[in-house]
Parts: sequence; structure tokens; C-alpha cells
Amino acid sequence: MHCAAVLTAAGSGTRLGHDLPKALVPLGGTPLVVHAARALADSRVVDAVVVTAPAAQLRQLTDLFPGGTVPGSTVPAFVVAGGPTRQASVAAGLAAVDQVAGDCDLVLVHDAARALAGPELVRRVVAALDSGRRAVVPCVPVTDTVKRVRSLPDGGELVVETPDRSTLRAVQTPQGFSRELLQRAHRAGADRADDETRAVSDDAGLVEALGAEVYVVPGEPAALKITTSADLDLAERLLSRS
Ligand code: CTP
Ligand code: MG
Repeated sequence: MHCAAVLTAAGSGTRLGHDLPKALVPLGGTPLVVHAARALADSRVVDAVVVTAPAAQLRQLTDLFPGGTVPGSTVPAFVVAGGPTRQASVAAGLAAVDQVAGDCDLVLVHDAARALAGPELVRRVVAALDSGRRAVVPCVPVTDTVKRVRSLPDGGELVVETPDRSTLRAVQTPQGFSRELLQRAHRAGADRADDETRAVSDDAGLVEALGAEVYVVPGEPAALKITTSADLDLAERLLSRS
């Protein structure tokens, strides 16, 4: 095998406010996690997918991958329990990759919440890895002006600085890595994994903390992260248009 993917789907989706964990919420009648898994399989550059599930929904998630494959493909899918934070879930997914796809050189980390990220984007990330990059993130330009702030004792906030917007990027998934590098980065950051206030929200951050270089490839608007119900409405419109 060449490339495995960890598909994070163990979150509860608090901000979405649905009865179901976010990954199980339907988009055009299909759960978000199945959309995301299909894009990975349809890319034809991913050989196996490890899905992190909420422990209480392990069975429900497993049932979404009949025969242990991504629906509509022959790509094997393995569902494992995630952890208390996204970082812990990715670490659990990486441990499972060791078991089921231990010969892969490359690993992608993708969020079920980015259900409409397309196979083209997956291929772009893997192509950059194949060209020799060891850490790759898809990015889009930031349209809002962004300010760095600090908290005040009275509960308010003070603006500290306004970074030059032309140098800022919003980061998407799938992110791609040399498996060895990502494993090393997760091992080095493991003490933060179980604490939501200290855990990282993206894997590239852990790789940067090692001092390794992280390269950018163009992201895509469809790879938006579905966080709120307004995002889900937008994704429904994007899906019905495509
Ligand atoms: N995730 C995970 N394990 C966790 C937390 C999050 O695998 N303990 C996954 C989510 O399922 C999602 C991705 O990480 O695909 C990005 O997280 P986010 O968008 O924050 O999803 P949730 O944590 O589910 O949402 P919320 O923060 O609103 O509760
Ligand atoms: Mg979250």
C-alpha cells in the first residue's frame, strides 16, 4: 500500500446542534462521513481508510461501511473508537493504520465535517507528497480581515495587532504527510491530546512544532467545514447544484 487516510468522525457536533453526532448527520440523504469517505476512495490514490467513531456509535458507524469497504468502491474501511479530542482521535486512527496498513508511506488526515471536499483535492495533496513534500496542507485565501486580540480582566478584548491579510490562509483537509513524520509529531505532542484546551485542531501544527516544513497546495470552496446549521444549509445547496 502507498497511502492510507484517517477520517476523523468521532466528534459530537455540539455547534451543529443535531440529535445525531455530526458525522452521521445526513447531507442530501447520505451521512457526512460517507460523503467524505467516498471522495477519498474516488480519488483512486487512497488504499485504505480508518474512520474514528464516537465510542457510543461504533456499531452505527461500522454499519455504514458494509463488507468493510467504502460504499461504491473496493477500498477497505476500518472503524475504530476515537478519543476525547480531535488530536486524540487522529492518534487513535494512526495506531490503527499501523495495524491495518503498516506498509503505507503516506497518510492523509481528513475531517468527516468537510463532506464535500472532492477527489481532485485529495489527488492534489497526494501528488504534492509524491513529488517529495513531507507535509502538505490545502489552503484558501482569507477574505475577512483578521485581528489578534488578548483578553482583558473585565471580560472584554483588546486588539493587539492586524496581520497582513495577504499572508494569511485558511487551512482545510485532507492534510497529507509522510507517515513517519506525522507519527513522530503526534508522539511529541501526545501530552496535549486529552485536554481540549491544549489539543491542536490541525495536524500540521504538530508537524510545525517539530520544526519541519509544511507546504501549501490550493484548497477549494467545496471543502468548507460544516460546523453550524448555516454551513449545513450551504452544503445542501452546493450539493444540489453539483
Ligand atoms: N473529531 C474527532 N474526535 C473528537 C472531536 C472531533 O474525530 N474528539 C472530528 C469531528 O468528527 C470532525 C473533525 O474532527 O470531523 C473536526 O471537528 P469539529 O468540526 O470541531 O467537529 P465536532 O467536534 O464534532 O463539533 P463541535 O466542536 O461543534 O462539537
Ligand atoms: Mg470540535
